[in-house]
Amino acid sequence: MRKNIVAGNWKMNKNLQEGIALAKELNEVLTADKPNCDVIICTPFIHLASVTPIVDKNIIGVGAENCADKAAGAYTGEVSAEMVASTGAQYVILGHSERRAYYHETVDILTEKVKLALANNLQPIFCIGEVLEEREANKQNEVVKAQLASVFSLSAEDFSKVILAYEPVWAIGTGKTATPEQAEEIHAYIRSLVAENYNAEVAENTSILYGGSCKPTNAKELFAKPNVDGGLIGGAALKAADFKGIIDAFK
Ligand code: 13P
Repeated sequence: MRKNIVAGNWKMNKNLQEGIALAKELNEVLTADKPNCDVIICTPFIHLASVTPIVDKNIIGVGAENCADKAAGAYTGEVSAEMVASTGAQYVILGHSERRAYYHETVDILTEKVKLALANNLQPIFCIGEVLEEREANKQNEVVKAQLASVFSLSAEDFSKVILAYEPVWAIGTGKTATPEQAEEIHAYIRSLVAENYNAEVAENTSILYGGSCKPTNAKELFAKPNVDGGLIGGAALKAADFKGIIDAFK
């Protein structure tokens, strides 16, 4: 059966000391009150090597927010999937809408990143989602279908390591959440595409997270939908109490 997952995306927030403090606090609260789902924190690159040893691996997984589309070499400023894995991190967010929009990450670039992540035993948390104009033009299905091309060329075995995250861009950091019905509708569609591209069993086993202004107050009704298997959390992942509140939606 697929896993329920709550993953935090810290984005470009928290200096090293603040990040360590947040990871320690989360580890404490989740050790005292064990979660009913998998919990992952995705941090800036420089935090990874400090954060992985201070969290209990059985309770909190650690991931990066990006990795390079090249394996190694003269790519000044880039961080490879192998480097990420060498910190003890097990996950990497790929295809976040902020990367697609501000750093021009295309389907082809993301295909390379996904391959390199998997080759280095990192589980991709692969993000898809439409912008407001696309939603208003009722084009969300074709947008997410095109974005999924980066993972749909994988073998079924490799794809089984991918976590999908549907994040409507109009809901990210805006306070405007998709309704549980909107989330369910497109998550069910995404799962149908997985079934079409692979088979029903692979589709049943794929975790599809919702992201976009997810908060302790709305997480429960979103996660209650049959095709919503948890959340990818931005702003509310920056405070242990808020993140815990979302994790507790599975209790
Ligand atoms: P917010 O939860 O801040 O809307 O961000 C969602 C997101 O982009 C997670 O990747």
